[in-house]
Amino acid sequence: MSFSLKLADAFGKVVERSPFTALDPIVKINHVPKGNNVIFGRAKYEDRPSDVVYIGKVLENAAGKSYLGADAWMDVTFPHVIYITGTRGSGKSFDLGVLIEGISELQEKSPVQNDVTPITSILIDTQSQFWTLRYEPRGAVKENAQQLEELKRWNIKPNALKNCRIYIPPNTEPFLGDEIKFRLQPRYVTAEDWCSLLGQEVYGPQGHIVSETCESLSPANYSLNDMIAYISDASNWPGIAESSRNALVYKLTDYLRTGLFDPAGLDVRSLLTPGVANIFMLRDLRNEDKSLVTAIIARQLFLIMGQHHKELKVAHFFDKPFKGENLPTRVWLLIDEAHVVAPANLPSPAREALVEYVKRGRDAGLSLVLATQQPSAVDDRILSQVNISFNHRLTFQSDISAAINRVPTKTLAGMKMSGTTLTDFGDMIRLLEAGQCFLGDHASSRTVLVQIRPRVTSHGGYNPV
Ligand SMILES: Nc1ncnc2c1ncn2[C@@H]1O[C@H](COP(=O)(O)OP(=O)(O)O)[C@@H](O)[C@H]1O
Ligand SMILES: [Mg+2]
Repeated sequence: MSFSLKLADAFGKVVERSPFTALDPIVKINHVPKGNNVIFGRAKYEDRPSDVVYIGKVLENAAGKSYLGADAWMDVTFPHVIYITGTRGSGKSFDLGVLIEGISELQEKSPVQNDVTPITSILIDTQSQFWTLRYEPRGAVKENAQQLEELKRWNIKPNALKNCRIYIPPNTEPFLGDEIKFRLQPRYVTAEDWCSLLGQEVYGPQGHIVSETCESLSPANYSLNDMIAYISDASNWPGIAESSRNALVYKLTDYLRTGLFDPAGLDVRSLLTPGVANIFMLRDLRNEDKSLVTAIIARQLFLIMGQHHKELKVAHFFDKPFKGENLPTRVWLLIDEAHVVAPANLPSPAREALVEYVKRGRDAGLSLVLATQQPSAVDDRILSQVNISFNHRLTFQSDISAAINRVPTKTLAGMKMSGTTLTDFGDMIRLLEAGQCFLGDHASSRTVLVQIRPRVTSHGGYNPV
């Protein structure tokens, strides 16, 4: 099976009819007619494309040529910026799981990967729900039993991630037994990060003190205690108000209590084992600390991977063997509930870091996937780089408008649904069920309605028992 060139041995025939008929024809799409496969995120046509992951089936009839029932794949060769929007319960986290299953090393060979070289990933799991990627769906769990039924219909076998590390902050109770506790190195927290964490202006009195402190202690691998000691030492601060210094010391002492900082903390290089999925379960952290963790990871990623790709290019140019580190060439950073981590209207550490990440990512082999229920609440400078969009059900017009703005191709002008003709794309988005979405990319002339496939690993995001 896998990427099938024959209809006979393709995935289950789960989408043979559809109540949706798009009135706009699909003028251009990357379609491999043999086996009826459609590829998103890649413009180049190949008869036997490799490095594509299976995401589902086309769920619409269309005026002109219809691709209903075609198997939908996504390119994972190139760095992408993917934007997943939808209301609560519409299937966003599910999609993140589908993508991670596609790019990671699995226990058993699976048709959901077509000649995929596993890609290292880092997932910011704001709800702490993705640890189940390690496990096959369990029949004894009701929701998983449904999942197993679905998989059967789709003719896909259950599976599990082979190399999946779970990271938890110091104050989270482990429950699997092999979670890795992580802390952050203060030297990677910039003065700007501190200012947004502490609610201070960079050019205000406390901002000035933090900047001076970070600068004076760098490049040593300093601790939070070193910072507090430096700020407390009056001889370092002629002419600076003691009250500003005291206020900062109180706040940093508060941070000391979280136990989140340690000069021997997380080294992002340790995450970069080829093919490994690294899951950061951050539910117990405050939102600003979730943002800080994301910022530090994103910044270190583009520094390390940027340097790595530069060295690779030089070796290639001079036709010399590459003698650098054994790092992956591609890394995906995936963020669930992105509006919490990089909000548009508040300063946050991750906001600036992610702007840089998407700017530099392309040359450094870095992809970004953002999922959010508040499409207007994510920084525009990040969203301007989106090249693939998944639009699930949304209800509020403001959210719909913001989501549509970021679709990297044309939206639909008309669709018939069970006899009714809709001419507003927002109304079409309002009608979608969980797991259905409009997929937009540069290679297709318009967005296409897709049914996302069932998860091969256990989905952990169902409602609390
Ligand atoms: N592709 C899909 N196939 C089948 N069920 C799905 C699919 N996507 C979502 N669902 C169902 O919808 C529920 C909510 O999905 P989830 O991804 O957790 O929503 P959210 O958008 O809030 O992250 C899931 O628990 C699952 O039951
Ligand atoms: Mg979710």
